[in-house]
Amino acid sequence: PVPVPGFPAPTAHSQQAYDPTDDFTAKWTRADARQIAAMSDPTAPSRENSLPEEYTMPTVPKDFPDMSNDQVWVWDSWTLTDGTSNQPSFKGWEVVFSLVADRSLGFDDRHTYARLGYFYRKANVAERPANGGWTYGGHVFPDGASGAIFEDQSFSHQTEWSGSTRIFDGNKLRIFYTAVAFYRNEDGSNRKPYDPRIVQSEGRIFADENGVWMTGFRDQHDMLQADGTYYQNGAQNEFFNFRDPFTFEDPAHPGKTYMVFEGNTAAPRGERVCTAADMGYRAGDPYTETADEVMDRGAHYQLANVGLAVADNAALTEWTFLPPILSANCVNDQTERPQIYMKDGKYYLFTISHRGTYAAGIDGPEGVYGFVGDGIRSDFQPVNRGSGLALGSPSNLNFAAGKPFAPDYNQHPGQFQAYSHYVMPGGLVQSFIDTIGTSDDFVRGGTLAPTVKLDIDGSDVTVDRSYGHDGLGQWADIPSNYSHPISSAS
Ligand code: FRU
Repeated sequence: PVPVPGFPAPTAHSQQAYDPTDDFTAKWTRADARQIAAMSDPTAPSRENSLPEEYTMPTVPKDFPDMSNDQVWVWDSWTLTDGTSNQPSFKGWEVVFSLVADRSLGFDDRHTYARLGYFYRKANVAERPANGGWTYGGHVFPDGASGAIFEDQSFSHQTEWSGSTRIFDGNKLRIFYTAVAFYRNEDGSNRKPYDPRIVQSEGRIFADENGVWMTGFRDQHDMLQADGTYYQNGAQNEFFNFRDPFTFEDPAHPGKTYMVFEGNTAAPRGERVCTAADMGYRAGDPYTETADEVMDRGAHYQLANVGLAVADNAALTEWTFLPPILSANCVNDQTERPQIYMKDGKYYLFTISHRGTYAAGIDGPEGVYGFVGDGIRSDFQPVNRGSGLALGSPSNLNFAAGKPFAPDYNQHPGQFQAYSHYVMPGGLVQSFIDTIGTSDDFVRGGTLAPTVKLDIDGSDVTVDRSYGHDGLGQWADIPSNYSHPISSAS
């Protein structure tokens, strides 16, 4: 690619596949991520989007309906999957799993009180109510079940964070999620680091003409804790990220089940670990930076990675860590809710990230980032002009970011409109509403945004603005794409 004047060329990535067990980690480099600033319009005025329309989620209106009918806050969500990213319905019902919290909590307090909840609605309905027509089914796990795994029961908060759900023969479900214990003092500081663990729990799903219910989920299998070797742990950094398991089967390795998850490069906080390869500049590029230059600016506090693990048993309760498949050292601190999406023989790694977690000198919007390669471990090519940005919220990189609870006056009102995007069959993308508006006038979300559609074509990922109304589909729309074959089991 021809570099944008004033910006470096992105790193060359071959997309070549490696064996899943190989010690090769693709790098989302600074040279790559700086392509986002290169495509941002430096003259975009206050409250206008500075990023290309084709990579921007259409603006979500402020008067959104609530899918829970005022029962709970809703954020990260996913449906039943079968290991190939298909989304089956069960006995004529679509089912959604969501992080939920009591609406009496402030929306930003939700993270330490999250429970896994579920919703259901009839599949194949032509006309739905504006809010998606879901019925809230309640919590998935019995009270206390997800906390029982912690040896140290003196936690101040214990909570359930994101993951994914697989449906197997008959009506068996396995939920992969993050059980988290916090050990905080009254002032919010840590008495000891929080403890996120990747856990699996098995249950059963049932349905009749009146709705959907679930049983089981009492036994919780404590499977993976950050090892400090590939994946940073709490002893290395009390603010480490380790969560959001997503499991899948790879047709190139039949009989095996893999998991991707959010992690950080394993190094003690503050250690100057970024290298020239993390910078990714081509020899002779006039717009390079050295690793020391960016670390002098503190960029080494941002060390995201996407982890990989392989299952050791058929019950998917025992796993072995493999080296990370992607790192973003000195680029960004969070690559969250990663998923592997297969299309046209290519493997897409989609992950979500925040404007506020970028390293010094790098900027980009809230949204989905995408990387394409020939296998689950590849020299992944960041999509869209080498940048990695697949679908951003409308944002103006010329103005400060603000925070969801305090948006900036000059920002595009949609900057925090959506997060926790999840790419579904056919390129449909669901997400939740965080904040819509500017400092003088904004509303908080807590329900799912309109579903949008991406056209995924090689390393080009663009928004389909002909989908729905100007690119916005229905609110809280998480459709199934086939019905789960039911045996006598249920
Ligand atoms: C994304 C996320 C996930 C985490 C959850 C906690 O929105 O940060 O990584 O599991 O939210 O609320």
